[in-house]
Amino acid sequence: MTPQITVLDAGGQYTHLIARKVRELGVYAEVQPSETSAAELAGCKGIVISGGPASVYEPASPRIDPEALTAGPAVLGICYGQQLIAHLLGGSVRKGEKGEYGLAKLHVTQPGALLDGLDDFEQIWMNHRDLVETPPLGFAVLGSTETCAVAAIGDDARRIYGVQFHPEVVHTRRGVQVLKNFLFEICGCEKDWNPTGQVEEIEEQIRRAAAGRNIFFFVSGGVDSTVAYTLCLQALGPERVYGIYVDTGLMREGETEFVQRIFTGLGAKAFHVESAAGQFLEALTDVTDPEEKRHIVGEEFVQVQERVLETEHFLDGNWILGQGTIYPDTIESGGTAKADLIKTHHNRVAGIQRLIESNRLVEPLTSFYKDEVRALGRQLGIPDELLERHPFPGPGLAIRCLCSTVSLPVKRADSGWILPILSVGVQGDSRSYRHVLALEDFPIEPETATHLINRLSTVNRAVVRVASRAPLAQLEVLPAHLTKERLARLRAADAIVRRLSQESGFEREVWQFPVVLIPLGVAAHPDSVVLRPVHSVDGMTAQSIRMSAELLDRLTAELLTVAGVGAVFYDLTHKPPGTIEWE
Ligand code: XMP
Repeated sequence: MTPQITVLDAGGQYTHLIARKVRELGVYAEVQPSETSAAELAGCKGIVISGGPASVYEPASPRIDPEALTAGPAVLGICYGQQLIAHLLGGSVRKGEKGEYGLAKLHVTQPGALLDGLDDFEQIWMNHRDLVETPPLGFAVLGSTETCAVAAIGDDARRIYGVQFHPEVVHTRRGVQVLKNFLFEICGCEKDWNPTGQVEEIEEQIRRAAAGRNIFFFVSGGVDSTVAYTLCLQALGPERVYGIYVDTGLMREGETEFVQRIFTGLGAKAFHVESAAGQFLEALTDVTDPEEKRHIVGEEFVQVQERVLETEHFLDGNWILGQGTIYPDTIESGGTAKADLIKTHHNRVAGIQRLIESNRLVEPLTSFYKDEVRALGRQLGIPDELLERHPFPGPGLAIRCLCSTVSLPVKRADSGWILPILSVGVQGDSRSYRHVLALEDFPIEPETATHLINRLSTVNRAVVRVASRAPLAQLEVLPAHLTKERLARLRAADAIVRRLSQESGFEREVWQFPVVLIPLGVAAHPDSVVLRPVHSVDGMTAQSIRMSAELLDRLTAELLTVAGVGAVFYDLTHKPPGTIEWE
C-alpha cells in the first residue's frame, strides 16, 4: 500500500505514535528516515516531521531533504520538526531558559486551518528545551504558552505547519482534532485503512511464504506472538505449525500453565515447553547493570533457540520460522532508528539470523501496530484474557529484581531521603540512570513528586513509603544478587498484587502494574517491594496512578507477610521522567 502520510523520523520517542494515531483515523501511514528524498515522498498527501532529542543547530542533527517542503505534500512539523522547518526556511531557533516538560496551556491566538475548532485555551503536552524564536517569513504564529511564545506556526498558502507541542499524545486533549484538521482539511486524505478486513489476505500471504513447508514459532504468551501463531495455525492447520515456549524461570507465577492452556484452547497440537530456568539464573546471578541483564537474557535465549533448532531438526529445509514482529519492531529497538537507546529489547536475535538471511521466515504482523494486532486477534477468536493482558517485558522478573554489590545508607535530602539505588529514566528523549527519592508520608500527589524530581538533578524517580518495619532513616541498601530466593520473593509479592488487584477490579483500571523488588531494608528484612501501577496508551508515556486506600491497606498487609520483605513503597513517577520498568 502507498501511504497517504509519511512520518519522517527525527529520532523522537513518539514517532510511531504519530503514525499510529493517523492510522486510527483511518489513513494509512508509514515511518521513514528523516532524510528520505523529496522524490520518494512525492506520492504522499502529507508529511509529518517527528520530534527528536537533537538541536537543529548541531551539525550532525537529523535533516530532511529541503525540497520535501516544496514538493507538493502538505507538511506538519512536531516539536523538533517545527524547529527544523523554522531553521530551514529562515526563522530562528534557540535554547529556552528552561525546559517545558509535561502539561501546559496553549493560548490559541490565530487558529488558521491547523487549529481550527480549538478553544481559546487548550491543554497540551510539551517535551522540549529548544524553541522557535522567530518563525520564517510568511508564517503566522497560531498559539503560545507561558514558556513558549511560538507554540504553533502555519503558512496556509504553502500548506506548511509546525507545533511545538505533541498532538499525538493523549495528554494533549484536542490533539486528535489537530491531526484531523491536518489529514482531512489540509492534506485532503481519504479513509483507506482497516486492519481487521485483512485476515484472509494475510493468511494467503502465509501460505505463499510457507510454500509447502511447515512453520515453527517461539511463542512468549504475549499478544503479538500468539496472534501471529494463530494466523499461521488457521492458514496451514495444526499439523503444520509448531510452537515452543521457553520457560526462563523469570516469569510470573502460573505463567507456563496459562500459556499451555491458551494454546491448547486455540487448537495447537504441536506445542512444547522448553525448561531453561537453571541456565538463565546461572548466567544472571552476579549481574546488577540493567543493560547487561538485558543483554544476557537475550544471549541465553539465543542459546536455547539454537539448541531447539538443532534437536528438533528445524533447519532441515522443511521448516520456516514464524515471528510476531510488529511494525514498530521493524524499524529498530528503542523506538526508531535515531532515537536514543533507552533500553535494549530483544525482538530479533542473532542466532536466527541465518534463517532470516535465507528468507526462511514468515512475519505476518510487520505492517501492524499493537492495537491493530489486538483487533486482529479478536477477529480470530483469541480470548480476551490473553489479548487484554498487561504487557510483560521479555527479560521478565530479572529487570524487576534490582541487585547491589555494595552496602550503602540512605541519605537525607530537603524533601525526603535519597535511596542509593539506580533506576532508568527518560528525560527529554534521552536515557538517564539515577537515584530514587523516597518521601516519608502518604498521601502525596504525583504532581508534587514531579516537582521534586525536577528540582533534584541526581534523581529521576520518586517513591513514597507506604509501610515499613523500620524507620526510613535506618534502611540500607544491602548487597543482593539475582538468586532463586529473591526471585521467589518477588514472584510471591507479584502474585499477591495480581490476585488482589484482580479481585478489586483495579487491574482493569491500570494499563500495567509492575511490582519491583529493591535491596533496601535491614538484615532481617533485606528487601522492599515497590508498587508501580501506571496508566498509559502504549507505554511511550505513562502516568503513575493512585489506588483506593482500602486496596492499598490490604496489599500492604499481605506483602509484609512475605518472608524477607520489610517495606512497601509506591512509585509516584510519571514517564517521563521515569520509565515504567525500573531497569
Ligand atoms: P519502559 O520501562 O521503557 O517500558 O517505560 C515501556 C514498556 O515496554 C515494556 N518493556 C519491554 N517489553 N521486552 C519487551 O517485550 C523488553 O525488553 C522490555 N522492556 C520493557 C515495559 O514492560 C513497558 O510496558
